[in-house]
Amino acid sequence: MAGKIIGIGIGPGDPELITIKALKALKTADVICVPKSRLEKTSMALSTIKHILEEREKYPEVIELIFPMIRDESELKRLWNKNAEIVADKVKKGDTLAFVTLGDPFFYSTFIYLYHRLKEMYPEIELEIIPGITSLTACSASSKIPLAEKNETVVIIPYNIGSKQIEEMAKYADNLVFMKGTKHIKDLVPILERVGFTKNSTIIFAKRCTMPEEKVIVGKLSDVQNWDICEDYFSMTVIKRSYFQNNRE
Ligand SMILES: C[S@@+](CC[C@H](N)C(=O)[O-])C[C@H]1O[C@@H](n2cnc3c(N)ncnc32)[C@H](O)[C@@H]1O
Repeated sequence: MAGKIIGIGIGPGDPELITIKALKALKTADVICVPKSRLEKTSMALSTIKHILEEREKYPEVIELIFPMIRDESELKRLWNKNAEIVADKVKKGDTLAFVTLGDPFFYSTFIYLYHRLKEMYPEIELEIIPGITSLTACSASSKIPLAEKNETVVIIPYNIGSKQIEEMAKYADNLVFMKGTKHIKDLVPILERVGFTKNSTIIFAKRCTMPEEKVIVGKLSDVQNWDICEDYFSMTVIKRSYFQNNRE
């Protein structure tokens, strides 16, 4: 009998933020599959769920698949196809395979690359998605500042898009979320001031939310030039057009 592939979101890092549905799937799946960007790196997703696997009567088979952060489209496609073949072979043997991702599997996740390849190459394979708590909502919770209220609009922007595009999108948004690193946080200030954000607009820097190394800084746009921030991929910036009175000040 054919198995299936379950894309599982395991939340932003705190193991207690794994849903009951994800937990059940992790306790029963025949094969656990985790993504890594490089062979020598340890998988953050695997570290987050290791305790669940260790509690199982028999530790399941774990496959670590490499999804490198490179730009060569043809090499990427070759690797994604190879990964799709690896998981499809397991499923054809009747295994249920759980592909584990941090946050939610359909929100900027590695799983999406695999999902597209599987849909095209193996349309007969059953796919299930278990949503997870996203880093976005975790950031909001950690900072104790709502992501959106009343009629506020939110625009989510990956940091690596150009400043012109950022400016265009910021014109119409109340709240902006910058994902995938921190590098350009200080460069954002003049861009946003051009489209009506003020020195009093609220800015939140959130690193490794809900993880032991969590760091959250809340301030006003005018404070940012004095912030000491190191680049960390697991970080995001949220900027609210309005001033948000909070008890951190
Ligand atoms: C490839 S995306 C994955 C998003 C994930 N699937 C989700 O649902 O949250 C990676 C980006 O998510 C953000 N991120 C992930 N985990 C985070 C955390 N615990 N704290 C802050 N930002 C996080 C960072 O901006 C990071 O660069």
